[in-house]
Amino acid sequence: MDNAIYFYSGTGNSLWTAKNLARLLGNTELIPMTSKKESIISLNAERVGLIFPVHMWGLPLHVIDFVRRLSADHAKYYFALAVNAGQVAATLVQLKKMLQEKEINLSAGFSICLPSNYIPWGGAIALEKQQERFSDSLNKIKFISELVRAKEARTPEKGPSWQNVFFSALYKMGSPRIPGMDKSFWVDAKCSGCKICEKICPTKNIIMSDGKPTWHHHCEQCLACIQWCPEEAIQYGKNTATKKRYHHPEIKLPEMLACNIRQNR
Ligand SMILES: Cc1cc2nc3c(=O)[nH]c(=O)nc-3n(C[C@H](O)[C@H](O)[C@H](O)COP(=O)(O)O)c2cc1C
Ligand code: SF4
Ligand code: SF4
Repeated sequence: MDNAIYFYSGTGNSLWTAKNLARLLGNTELIPMTSKKESIISLNAERVGLIFPVHMWGLPLHVIDFVRRLSADHAKYYFALAVNAGQVAATLVQLKKMLQEKEINLSAGFSICLPSNYIPWGGAIALEKQQERFSDSLNKIKFISELVRAKEARTPEKGPSWQNVFFSALYKMGSPRIPGMDKSFWVDAKCSGCKICEKICPTKNIIMSDGKPTWHHHCEQCLACIQWCPEEAIQYGKNTATKKRYHHPEIKLPEMLACNIRQNR
C-alpha cells in the first residue's frame, strides 16, 4: 500500500472522513488506532495520516495514548485531519508538538467541520445543515487528497489566537477530569439490555450488570454509547432525554462495532 490512515471515531464522522480520503487517494490501508501496547508504524506506506475528532479543543485521550506509543519511520510523509464541529482550536498544533518530541515532522494538518456529536450542548442539527457540512467537507477532502498525493507541506490549521490561548487553558484544566466524567451517564427504563453500548465502547468502560450498563471511570467521552443506543435509553446529566441523537448517517453500527473490536485488540 502507498498510504496508511490511522483513525479514531466515536460517532462515525472521522471514519467517514478517513474512508473518503482513502477512496480518493487509492491504494490506502485504513487502520483503527489500537489500544495495544505498541503502536508501530512500520508499514511500507510512503504517506501516513492520522484522523480523529477534536475533544475539548484538543486531542482525545485515545489519540494522545496512541501517539505516545508511536514508534515510527521518520522519513515518511505525515499528515493529520482533525474532525470537529467548528472549533478546531490548537489541536493540530498540539499534535505537531507531540510528534516533534518523537522527531516526527507533521507535514500538513487540516480541519474538517462536520455535525457536532456533543449532545450535552445540543442535539443533532437539522438534516439540511448536516448535508451542507457533508458536501463542504467532501470538497475539502478532495482538495486535501491532491495535496497529500503531492506530499505538500501545509502549516497546521488552527482557530484564532485568542481562542487558542483560552481553549488550550480549558483543555489543560478539563482533560484530567475526562475519565471520571462518565458519572453523569445513566440509563432509563427504555433499555432493552441489547449490550450494544458495552460492545461499542472503545475503552471497555461499560459493563452490563443485571441487564443494564454501568460505567467504570475510564471513559474517553467519545459519546459512542449515548449516540448509538438504539432505544435512546442512555442519558447524560439532566437534559438529554429530549435531544436528537447523532451519528454519521452513512456509517452503520456493524462497521463501528468491527472497528472497535479491532481498536480493543
Ligand atoms: C467530549 C467532546 C468534546 C468536543 N469538543 C469539541 C471542540 O472542542 N471543538 C469542536 O469543534 N467540536 C468538539 N466536539 C465535537 C466533535 O469534535 C465532532 O462532532 C466530531 O465530528 C466527532 O467525530 P466522530 O464522529 O469521529 O467521533 C466534541 C465532541 C465531544 C464528544
Ligand atoms: S445500547 Fe441502550 S438499550 Fe442496549 S443495553 Fe445499552 S443502554 Fe440498553
Ligand atoms: S463510556 Fe461511552 S463515552 Fe465513555 S468511552 Fe465508552 S462509549 Fe465513549
